[in-house]
Amino acid sequence: MDTQENVYTAGRAGHIRSFVLRQGRVSNAQQRYFDDMMEKIGVPYVAAPHDLDTVFGRKAPKILEIGFGMGETSAAIAAANPQNDYLGVEVHTPGVGSLCKLVAEGGLSNLRIVQHDAVEVLRDMILPGILSGAHIFFADPWPKARHHKRRLIQPPLIALLASRLQPGGYIHCATDWENYAEQMLAVLSAEPLLENTAVDYAPRPDYRPLTKFEQRGLRLGHGVWDLVFRRK
Ligand SMILES: C[S@@+](CC[C@H](N)C(=O)[O-])C[C@H]1O[C@@H](n2cnc3c(N)ncnc32)[C@H](O)[C@@H]1O
Repeated sequence: MDTQENVYTAGRAGHIRSFVLRQGRVSNAQQRYFDDMMEKIGVPYVAAPHDLDTVFGRKAPKILEIGFGMGETSAAIAAANPQNDYLGVEVHTPGVGSLCKLVAEGGLSNLRIVQHDAVEVLRDMILPGILSGAHIFFADPWPKARHHKRRLIQPPLIALLASRLQPGGYIHCATDWENYAEQMLAVLSAEPLLENTAVDYAPRPDYRPLTKFEQRGLRLGHGVWDLVFRRK
């Protein structure tokens, strides 16, 4: 039997998880910033809708990011756009510690973190029709065909996410995996609440910085695909 299958198939979450909780080493700095900052900018997962204006202490456009990794892009976007509030969701502790450090060093007041499965955060904590945008950058590609069911960008998640957007709100996905880009385009195009802002793939919006990893890939001739859809 595939033991991975036991971890994922429905299980306690009631849905197939899009991530593996790797242990991963947490550096001393990440742990220190995690301990210090999560008290201030961490939003504990609770299965109850949250008023995000209260969470951030102001009325401002709210943008959700799913799976921020080590958080470099999230911190850069939040720093460059102080007029918006950013809610980053990530399960991986070293990444949460890393973004805590970047928020502290950058003195960012417009970023909060939920360390939990983003599917449950969206379903349980985010009220319908309130998000101005959602970022999903370089979601795990799950390259093996038998793992495709774990990919985040699937019709139920996109229907849920679209329901949380306000009219005109956007979903921005980026991937360097062509076959996943095709799946994203098909899934996003099939969601009745959404319309594409481009004919198919979109030019990279200026607010999304090129990551080091991406620059290297582009130099090697690898592609990156951005998709930007809006709620009708
Ligand atoms: C390949 S990494 C990309 C990280 C980052 N966005 C970047 O561009 O470098 C994907 C991240 O998504 C996170 N992730 C996957 N599924 C998730 C979920 N359901 N909820 C929260 N985070 C998730 C993983 O832990 C991982 O850190």
